[in-house]
Amino acid sequence: MRRRSFLHGSVITLGSMLLPQFAAKAMGEGKYEIIARHASHPLAGPDHPKTDLMLYGGQSPGPLLTIRKSETLEITFKNRLSEPSTIHWHGIRNLNEMDGVPGLTQPNVEPGEDFVYRFPANDAGTFWYHAHNMAWKQVSYGLYGPLIVLDDGEDLGLDNVVLVADDWRLTDEYQIHSDSLGSLHDWSHAGRMGNWLTINGTSQPEIPVASEGLIKLRLINAANARVMKFALEGDGLFEIVAIDGASCHPFHVKHCLLAPAQRLDVLIPAEKISNLMEVSNSLPVKAARFKAVKNKSKMRISRPRSTPWYEKPNIENAKHVKIHMQGGAMGNLSAAEYHGQKYSLRELAQEHSKLWAFNSVVGGYHNILAEVDLMQTVALDVFNDSRWQHAIHLHGHHFWVKSSEFEKNPFWILRDTYLMQPHQKAQLIFVADNPGKWLFHCHMLEHHAAGMGGVISVV
Ligand code: C2O
Ligand code: CU
Repeated sequence: MRRRSFLHGSVITLGSMLLPQFAAKAMGEGKYEIIARHASHPLAGPDHPKTDLMLYGGQSPGPLLTIRKSETLEITFKNRLSEPSTIHWHGIRNLNEMDGVPGLTQPNVEPGEDFVYRFPANDAGTFWYHAHNMAWKQVSYGLYGPLIVLDDGEDLGLDNVVLVADDWRLTDEYQIHSDSLGSLHDWSHAGRMGNWLTINGTSQPEIPVASEGLIKLRLINAANARVMKFALEGDGLFEIVAIDGASCHPFHVKHCLLAPAQRLDVLIPAEKISNLMEVSNSLPVKAARFKAVKNKSKMRISRPRSTPWYEKPNIENAKHVKIHMQGGAMGNLSAAEYHGQKYSLRELAQEHSKLWAFNSVVGGYHNILAEVDLMQTVALDVFNDSRWQHAIHLHGHHFWVKSSEFEKNPFWILRDTYLMQPHQKAQLIFVADNPGKWLFHCHMLEHHAAGMGGVISVV
């Protein structure tokens, strides 16, 4: 494959403004219908061929779902793909049976079948939804969309903007590079890296924003594996006010670092806004431009509450769960257990496409990492004993972690997906207040597919 280096340099100008998409068939307060189907979408703009994808509602990203805090969402999911699928509501502290993990919390929704997801939106914040069956493939084809739970007195608009970033691997014909899907090289290294950056489903869009006041950007990384880093051209600062949906004590950064599945809500004064750049590569690339528009709406962004959803629990009596992450290329995993049998890494890779393990067991839904009591405080003592970064995600709960993602001096934050560096140790602390079987896995989707996952059971 001739690789356009990750983020092409050429500019595609879009004549039309990119408006928030409320295109899901809204069927009354909090009720939506989402159809998953094959559809094509102009990822590269109007001057290039459309890309054949799998999409929700025929659009990329999928329909923007909004709901007010404390209300109930009801989404009728219609699977019109030619393969089974489910939807996971990433970051929602959900009812277990609505969590959308096939084989663990529900059966797969087969082609032609429907499934109704119904759950309360208890926390305000930035979330997203995505396919959870063979996610490494279905998400790479575009099966995801944003989900925003609005706080009291809050609305989306010119000063409250959703930006969904993705990193696609396209061929020279602007089609999904399907030959490399399932590549063991990707699975054993950093995952599937793309060569085409989009924001809200297109390359270098122009985003209308308010010309005055504060602007809140809600950044979502929907990529399979790419860790993205955003900056404002001219080095303006972002004020981070929420992390993975959860409000935090605000702090300023020059770079917004987002591992796959992570979200950041940031505030920028309108007069300071400039082009949004992606700077994870040595060559910074323009991700999006902003166009100042007079805001006619009466509603203004107010500073969000800076209190986290819940305080960091005391871990004196916590249940400690050791999680030793091993595997991947150039690692130290020589053999691991898979379906009750021990195999060498070579056999695992060649015969089962498995390359990663937690505590010497290749992950899957059968791999129960711990069983904990309801309301017990849990500390996951995680050791990334590999040469690779991992974006480790817990379903059904947010956890406290002493994060070194933003600054040299680590500090405690609440989030649902944490980016671990090679050889790093981290403690993920949470109160197991949500009963059910919850997946714990790497959100580099190829790593999960190749064994980096397990289950925390709360009973
Ligand atoms: Cu976005 Cu299993 O997760
Ligand atoms: Cu990983």
